[in-house]
This record gives sequence, structure tokens and C-alpha cells, in this order.
Amino acid sequence: MLFVSSEIYPLLKTGGLADVSYSLPVALRELGADARLLMPAYRDALQRAGKTRRAATLQIGTETVELLDARLGNTEIPVWLLAHPGFDRPGNPYLAPDGKPWPDSAERFALLCRAAVEIAQDRAGLDWRPEIVHCNDWQSGLTPALLTLETKRPATVFTVHNLAYQGLFPAATLAELGLPDAFWHTDGLEFHGQMSFMKGGLAYADRITTVSPSYAREIQTPEFGCGLEGLLSHRHERLSGILNGIDTDVWNPETDPLIAAPFDVRHLENKLVNKHAAQRRLGLPEQNVAPLVVLISRLAQQKGIDLVLKAMPELTRMPLQLAFLGTGEAVYEQSLVYWTRRFPERVAVVTGFDEGLSHLLEAGADMFLMPSRFEPCGLNQMYSQRYGTVPIVRQVGGLADTVSDAPPQGAELPVEASGFSFREATPEALTATVRRALALYENHDAWRVIQGIGMTKDFTWTRSARQYLEVYRQAKEDRNGVGITSD
Ligand code: ADP
Ligand code: GLC
Repeated sequence: MLFVSSEIYPLLKTGGLADVSYSLPVALRELGADARLLMPAYRDALQRAGKTRRAATLQIGTETVELLDARLGNTEIPVWLLAHPGFDRPGNPYLAPDGKPWPDSAERFALLCRAAVEIAQDRAGLDWRPEIVHCNDWQSGLTPALLTLETKRPATVFTVHNLAYQGLFPAATLAELGLPDAFWHTDGLEFHGQMSFMKGGLAYADRITTVSPSYAREIQTPEFGCGLEGLLSHRHERLSGILNGIDTDVWNPETDPLIAAPFDVRHLENKLVNKHAAQRRLGLPEQNVAPLVVLISRLAQQKGIDLVLKAMPELTRMPLQLAFLGTGEAVYEQSLVYWTRRFPERVAVVTGFDEGLSHLLEAGADMFLMPSRFEPCGLNQMYSQRYGTVPIVRQVGGLADTVSDAPPQGAELPVEASGFSFREATPEALTATVRRALALYENHDAWRVIQGIGMTKDFTWTRSARQYLEVYRQAKEDRNGVGITSD
């Protein structure tokens, strides 16, 4: 199986896609699948990869590109890095330093898709032919479309990690990329007069998956479908939701080298050591009594940061400390900084991407805030539960599938209650739920129970990886009968 992704932990990470692109192939390998990966050789990824060897040189149109051999983290799993000057830039792979998309993203990621096709068709000189090509998000979306042009091809699976980023470009891009006119129709790559990379996956892949069962249902509705709900409902028999797992070695409070002191479900005392360490790092007063509530996120509309900002007048009146770790839209960063200036003893913000601090905050916090407007899966609410940090989430997508709401104080706790959730996307619903959490936090025993339920939940990949194997099997069955040509 060839797994194509635009980011793979630890080579390059901007969000959850990188985590999944690491841990899912590892889990699939453990089940016996011959998973190999392809991603662009960004400058930062090359540095992290260490020594690489040239595996192949490909001629793609007028471009000469190289495939470099690397390994997935500390495993033996092969990763091919696609080297081309267009990828040889530092920083964010999608956005230029001015925050705008790199102007040549269509060309760069089309190259990734074409390289995937060359590998898939065993034309790269690697002497390997996958049975499945598994693509992820728009950056690899043209691959399933291009593969339908081949007379004999592997089966294709396309996973939607986030429908909101579609890879839309002007109509002329189709010709500029040398793609056939036959792709230009509303059941193909056209999306309201623009060319959509995402539709290359949604319209042409043998099977489509997304990263939670709830999101799989939601994206078939206008509220969450981003204009693609029609196509997704039309293909609903080929669409399924498979919940992400987490890497329980990287995210393990018993062994995590990035936290101040290890702990487990029977020995939670050390959470306090982590809380104090986190408070020191954040410049907040060290204290035990008030809960430390954290949010770690891309600062984007998706994550409900606007709801948090609107709730800040109310939240800052509550007996708690609030800490934010995030990077993204400047307006959110600035507004959060404003609140730290007003309440330096209660509110802290770290802007930037800091893997180490994210682990320490998960370990030291009492509660984790994730009020997303939509959330395909979300990983942090799972990391939180594993670290005894009780999540407060909006009941959407993967958050609804992984966090069970605890009832108000006084009611009996259901056996699965592991956090707090709310439906309405309003600051009032958010603050009411934080109040509910605060009330239960006062009840030490009940709080311990909720922490324990979260910490002992099974978030491993094994079950989900088995479901992917089943989807691969179905994709092979479906291969005939999809797209422009079939074999
Ligand atoms: P998304 O992929 O939509 O951003 P996920 O919850 O799936 O959301 O994954 C986000 C991942 O990125 C998590 O591993 C989270 O810890 C990490 N992350 C997000 N922002 C930061 C940050 N500023 N510093 C460190 N890690 C971050
Ligand atoms: C996307 C989604 C997030 C999901 C991640 C990994 O970035 O926004 O919800 O967890 O992909 O699948």
C-alpha cells in the first residue's frame, strides 16, 4: 500500500494529519500490510530525515524530480521524499511567510500526485507495485483521478481529514497542469467554475473515508458539506467514517520524556508536579486549587476560537487559570494577547508551534477546551483523556464520537462519562459547560472517576487499522466501474 500525505510526523507537522500519517501506517504494518509512504521533501523535513539516499530519478513532463529514501521515525518503514526546488523552502508547506498560500501550490502538489502515479504503476524503477494507493486530503487528491487514466491500476482510497481545505484553483489550471479536458465536468474536477484537487479524490477514488463516523454523516449535509454534500451523498455507499487512533507510545504519561514527572491512572499525584511546571513555563502563579484550563490548537475559525474570545469576559470571572498554545490567524493571536495583558495572573498565551510544551500542558492541565465549530476527528481531546485532563468539547464530528458528557453534579455518573460537551455554538453554551465542569471539579472523588474513565479508554489504532484493511478490500472489489476508464 502506498500512503501519500503532505505531512508526516516527525518529518513535518502542521496538524493532526501528520500524526495520523505516522501512526496509521505503523499500525497497518503491524497487521501485516506492506505500507510505504510518499511525501514532499520540504527543507525542514530533509533536515529532520538526516542522511538520505537517492532511490530514483523521475521525469514528470518537463520536470526532473528525485525520490529520496528515508525512514518513518525510528521504524524501518520506507518513506520516499519527493525532491523538487518547489518544495525546498523552510517553514509552513502551504503558506508563505505573509500568511498567504504559496503561489505555486497547484504545480507543486500536482507533481506529488504524478509521482504517486509513477510509483503506483511501477514506472519509478523501484521494483514495487502497490495494490492500494491511499491518498489524504486535497494535496494528493489528483492521484485517484490520474490513476483512472491507466488501463491497469491499483485500487484507490481517499481520506478526508478536513473538507474545508479543498485545493481550489482557477479553471485555467487544468490545462496548465496538462490534465485532460475529460476531467472538466461537475462530476469531475470542476467546482463552480474552479478546479478542485479535493474532487479528484471524492469523485474518482474507489472508496472514500473520513476520520470519524459522525463527520462522515455531517459532510453529507449542507451545514458541514462545504458545497460537496451532493457529491458525498451521491457516493455515500462508498463513504465511511473510521475514527482516528492516537500513538499511545508518543502520548504516554508513564514514559513521556517531554513532561516534568511521569504518572498513571493509579498515581495521579504527579499531575500536580506537571501543573506547577506548566504554570512556571507559562508565567502563571503556581497554585493547586483553581483548575488550569488549556487550549492547544491551530488558531482558525474551525476551532471555535471566536467563541472562546466572546466568552472571555465570563471565563475570566471564574476561579480558573487559562492557557493557550496556538498559532494561526493574527487577529486571534492579538485578541488572546489582549486578555493576558488584562489578567496576567490568570491568562497565558504562547504563540507558536511547540511540541514539547503541548505535552507538558496536556500533563499539567486539569481541563482541556476544544469548542470546535466542526471537527473531522480531533486528536487533542484523546491525548487529554489519556493524560487525565478532562476535555470540554462541542458535540460535533470526532469530538462527539470520543467524549461522553458527564451529567450535572448530583446525578449518577454514567460508566463512560469522560468529559463535558455542548451542542450550541454559542459563548453561553460554552461558559455554562465550563461552569458544569467547575462544579464537578469541586467533588474530588467524582473528578477522579472521570479522569480514570478517560485514562483507561482504548484509543489505540488497532481497531481502526483493521477497518482500513476492510476498506482496502472493498476498494479492490469496487475498482471496476469508477471514473473515466476502468480496467
Ligand atoms: P487539526 O489537525 O485540525 O489541527 P487535530 O486535533 O487533529 O487538529 O491535531 C492537531 C495536532 O497538532 C495535535 O497533535 C496538537 O497537539 C498539535 N498542535 C496544534 N497546535 C499546536 C501548537 N501550537 N503547538 C504544538 N502542537 C500543536
Ligand atoms: C484534520 C482535522 C482534524 C483531524 C486531523 C487528522 O486536520 O481538522 O479534526 O483530527 O485532520 O485526521
